[in-house]
Amino acid sequence: MRRSFCALLLFLSCSTWAQGVHPVTGRKYAGVMSADGAGWLTRPERESEEHPDEALKAIGIVKGSIVADIGAGSGFMTLRLAKLAGPSGKVYAVDIQPRMLDLLRENLRKQKIANVEPVLGAIDDPKLPPSAVDLVLLVDVYHEFSEPQKMLRHIREALKPDGRLVLLEYRGEDPDVPIRPEHKMTVAQVKAELEPEGFRLDRVKENLPRQHILIFRKN
Ligand SMILES: C[S@@+](CC[C@H](N)C(=O)[O-])C[C@H]1O[C@@H](n2cnc3c(N)ncnc32)[C@H](O)[C@@H]1O
Repeated sequence: MRRSFCALLLFLSCSTWAQGVHPVTGRKYAGVMSADGAGWLTRPERESEEHPDEALKAIGIVKGSIVADIGAGSGFMTLRLAKLAGPSGKVYAVDIQPRMLDLLRENLRKQKIANVEPVLGAIDDPKLPPSAVDLVLLVDVYHEFSEPQKMLRHIREALKPDGRLVLLEYRGEDPDVPIRPEHKMTVAQVKAELEPEGFRLDRVKENLPRQHILIFRKN
């Protein structure tokens, strides 16, 4: 009952629907979650469902690092990243919806966080500077990209040579994860889609209740 309610909420919060399929895997693109559903991103139970602090600890955010949170939404992860990167670091918070960036700015103001630069991206370009970023983080976002190959090419350009691209995705292999199928991914799908774009899967961490942590490096 609870599972179908969550799936219904996610269904209702999506404004657009799969515009296409990935040419390599045939995976349907999920459609972008509307800013009307932004409340879902800060639901209280998200802490226990996703363990965000544990996720960031497992990824390892070094003080002073330059991070890009692409598909930042209202900043659920951005705010944490900003604190971990510290004043000598910086977080680019990219989203394609101006309303999400407005919510994010409001949250930054309330928490007096000054090391985040909100960036209005395009569906095929995160608009990041070249060779500037230590870590690109995509939390519950990659499956929404309608131009994943173009996004990945730009992400690769934005990363420093030893930079990392990290995806958090709900486990597509697990039927008990209560999320619509288009909003989950398997390790095999992610690997098959990212490796042809110049990335190699370095590690998969499975310490979270519902999500994979997939860590890629540039080839
Ligand atoms: C499910 S929300 C996740 C938000 C945030 N990462 C979090 O965990 O709270 C997905 C976000 O990705 C954004 N998004 C979708 N496609 C995008 C793209 N190509 N570039 C940047 N943001 C994108 C959406 O606008 C939405 O805010």
